[in-house]
Amino acid sequence: MSVIAIVGGQWGDEGKGKVIDLLAEKARVVARFSGGDNAGHTVINPYGEFRLHLVPSGIFYPQVTCIISNGVVINPAVLLEEIDDLHNHGVDTSRLFISARAHLIMPYHTILDGLEEDRRNKGALGTTRRGIGPVFADKVARLGIRAGDLLDRDIFWGRLSAALEFKNIILTKVYQVSPLSAEEIYGQYCHYGEQLAPFIRETSSIIREAATKGELVLLEGAQGALLDPDFGTYPYVTSSSTLAGASCIGTCLGPRESDRVVGIFKAYNTRVGAGPMPTELKDEIGDLIREKAREYGATTGRPRRCGWFDAVAGRFSVQINGLSDIALTHLDIYDGFSSIKICTAYKFNDEVLTSFPSDIAILEKCQPIYEELDGWQESISGIRNFDKLPAAARNYMSRLEDLLSCPISLVSIGPDRRQIISVKELFS
Ligand code: IMO
Ligand code: MG
Repeated sequence: MSVIAIVGGQWGDEGKGKVIDLLAEKARVVARFSGGDNAGHTVINPYGEFRLHLVPSGIFYPQVTCIISNGVVINPAVLLEEIDDLHNHGVDTSRLFISARAHLIMPYHTILDGLEEDRRNKGALGTTRRGIGPVFADKVARLGIRAGDLLDRDIFWGRLSAALEFKNIILTKVYQVSPLSAEEIYGQYCHYGEQLAPFIRETSSIIREAATKGELVLLEGAQGALLDPDFGTYPYVTSSSTLAGASCIGTCLGPRESDRVVGIFKAYNTRVGAGPMPTELKDEIGDLIREKAREYGATTGRPRRCGWFDAVAGRFSVQINGLSDIALTHLDIYDGFSSIKICTAYKFNDEVLTSFPSDIAILEKCQPIYEELDGWQESISGIRNFDKLPAAARNYMSRLEDLLSCPISLVSIGPDRRQIISVKELFS
């Protein structure tokens, strides 16, 4: 068995939850390595329909140890609610662990996320307002509070009062809103700490032990490559790295330890929040994709912007993640389309660009250059064998493989766990 990193290839919401829920059947450990409750991983299986924001998507298998690793930021209230919801659906969470190194989202992070978005006004980034930017800023500013701090009340009080002294200056003097009470937050978080204490521990040894024994370890990413702070459409990005490289730092493994890196891509593109998206369709085709695929945010409920597959961005994503495989999701959404377009290059003024620009000022002016392929009329959601897919669907996949220079190993053709076709063996 092996270590497999699973990352979003586009702007998030590619179906990471579904693919991990499937692959976890053979896994010993599933570890989430980045992001926070800005993520919303939808899983539909015999236990029900779930939108997991923090708990790894492997939680539904009794043999899987699930880890919320050091690279993740945790809002304890959201996590406790998620654990409760899983319990109510009969899911055992006794094999869930939280890294003592994971940073905590504090009330001032969510408040500041909202205040900063409001201050940006028309230039708002469209964040999820979950406190993600502010908590990661505090992590690197060395002002953060970590899950392990909840286990020692003196340490927790010292860190909280020091951070809050500074945050209250920002709240009152910059934003002119009321200060927060250290005592109130202390009381609330000590209560969370009591409930979360059984889950908090040093987690890297669990991952390392399973990897050393050769058991299957899945490293679950969040968001997508184009939201990465270094390589995404900056500043319209999230605040922690979304790339496969982060699966090492966000857990405990070294760069030589992943055997495969699977990028999840939808058969089309979506984006939620502001920022450039060259293939966005503001017409009835975009609306059709949105309604057919229920493209509304799992975290915020916002309608997602929909468009044709962008192979320029896709190729870039394959490169910056070093992908070995692609899992293509939502292919069934194209059932009944007479033709399907793929963006193969951008037109920028008089130039044709085949690589993804680093500057959004250029990307915003790029016009997609499309190639048009035949669609198929039949429903593919009941098909379980690659060879039974209509020729036009196989041709679409083959064209994406060529354009992205990466094999498609899995294709998902519906929301259910069983609606997936294995094209190439993922496990060595
Ligand atoms: P999953 O894991 C889609 C987007 C937000 C916003 C930008 C910054 O479900 O794929 P943030 O709150 O992170 O500071 O917002 O990033 N965003 C996502 N979009 N899926 C996600 O996660 C996202 N997480 C953040 O909409 O544009
Ligand atoms: Mg999402």
